[in-house]
Amino acid sequence: MKRSLLIIICIIPFIGHATQKIAIIGTGYVGLVSGPGLAEFGNTVICADIDKDKIAMLQRGEIPIYEPGLDELIKRNIAHKRLSFTSDVGQAIEDSDVIFIAVGTPMGDDGSADLRYVKAVLKTIAKHLNGFKIICIKSTVPVGTGAWAKHILIAEGADPDLFEMTSNPEFLREGSSVEDFLVPDRLVIGASTPEAHDIMCDIYRPLIEKGTPHVNTNIETSELIKYASNSFLAVKLSFINEMANLCDATGAHAGTLALAMGMDQRIGSKFLNPGPGFGGSCFPKDCQELVCFAQKRGICVPTIQAALTTNQLQKFKPIEKLKKLLGVHTPEGKTIAVLGLAFKGHTDDVRYSPAKDVISMLCAEYATVKAYDPEATANMQRELPNIIYCTSAMQAIEDADALIIMTEWPQFRHLDLAAIKTIMRSPIIVDARNLLSTELLQELGFSYATIGNGMHIATLA
Ligand code: UGA
Repeated sequence: MKRSLLIIICIIPFIGHATQKIAIIGTGYVGLVSGPGLAEFGNTVICADIDKDKIAMLQRGEIPIYEPGLDELIKRNIAHKRLSFTSDVGQAIEDSDVIFIAVGTPMGDDGSADLRYVKAVLKTIAKHLNGFKIICIKSTVPVGTGAWAKHILIAEGADPDLFEMTSNPEFLREGSSVEDFLVPDRLVIGASTPEAHDIMCDIYRPLIEKGTPHVNTNIETSELIKYASNSFLAVKLSFINEMANLCDATGAHAGTLALAMGMDQRIGSKFLNPGPGFGGSCFPKDCQELVCFAQKRGICVPTIQAALTTNQLQKFKPIEKLKKLLGVHTPEGKTIAVLGLAFKGHTDDVRYSPAKDVISMLCAEYATVKAYDPEATANMQRELPNIIYCTSAMQAIEDADALIIMTEWPQFRHLDLAAIKTIMRSPIIVDARNLLSTELLQELGFSYATIGNGMHIATLA
């Protein structure tokens, strides 16, 4: 359904509405999808970043991240002269009416969001405020950042009559962020005046005219909606992982349990796949920030804290299961193949990837790790340089004592299990994403473990 809508959206020429001149500051995952996406809606967009190398790459037509559909989206909008890239951030600000801040807000040492990059952009904006502009924070920022940003701008010499702050959080999932941007479930716009709301709505006019639900609210609510949504999803994931662990202890089947739970429309079927714990740059960071934020205000949020604790514990499950299947207390001296390094499928991102924890645990216990990922190898190589990186799944699996599947890449569902059995030293698989058919694994004589869908130790023929 969404895919067909996406195609319709892409072929509609977005003309006939008041389009805006927009600068997007920051060309990370968020900025680099939002910029071309806003250009697709007919706006004139300049994406700016202080990273000159990255901008040079983009100007040459090279895309620094792997994101399905992004290449085409960027090329199409450059060809229509609605999209360009610059490392002159000041000039981009001066030439635009709406400035989107889309820089990173990483986790600081105490767990709260580090706003230093947002602050640096605000200082640059204050310097180049050459006329009235809407300043929109798209980065995920704690409640109160809009008001804080206003103070910073004024302290840096900006005329308060020359800007209006807004908030417009993103709900993009890596791996499907182009589709999520062009066909979102909803738009959230936070602003303090009707005029600022109207300008923000104009930017998204094609979506609003097509009936995309949009929530116009104040800046604080908009900021909190983002954290509330991510934390809720994180709680849902930790909940299903706890249920999966109960299934493993009792012989219940997590796949069927999730299916039946999801049929209740109040629960919904999405985000009920158990696994090795959630990762990525968003859920761990945003839950942690919300816990810190609440604590500083004397508010208890034990549910969100518990989601983080459960997630931490869940990362040990693949190793616990591996040891059981191998019948050892430690995998020392064993060769373990790891398929999947990205924190989830369809991305090259390894930030907070459960695969990183599992590999580190294996290395700490002196196992040899042979790893393969279709897109994330280069990124993981920078973080864990001392394991063996392979160029195919089969190469990683060859001569391994056991295989662990860590990322839900669709191609791992279609592994040739019969062929794999002939090249492994012992036929042992920990399927931490429940991708494989347990019937087939059993039929072929594998010893295997899943997350919530049972475990089987094959008897020697
Ligand atoms: C998440 C949210 O889904 C987006 O809406 C949000 O915009 C984004 O964070 C953000 O704040 O920028 P993302 O981190 O890209 O997006 O990835 P998700 O698809 O949400 O997956 C997060 C983690 O949960 C992954 O490790 C994934 O493998 C895991 N997961 C997801 C499961 O283990 N089971 C599931 O059923 C679903």
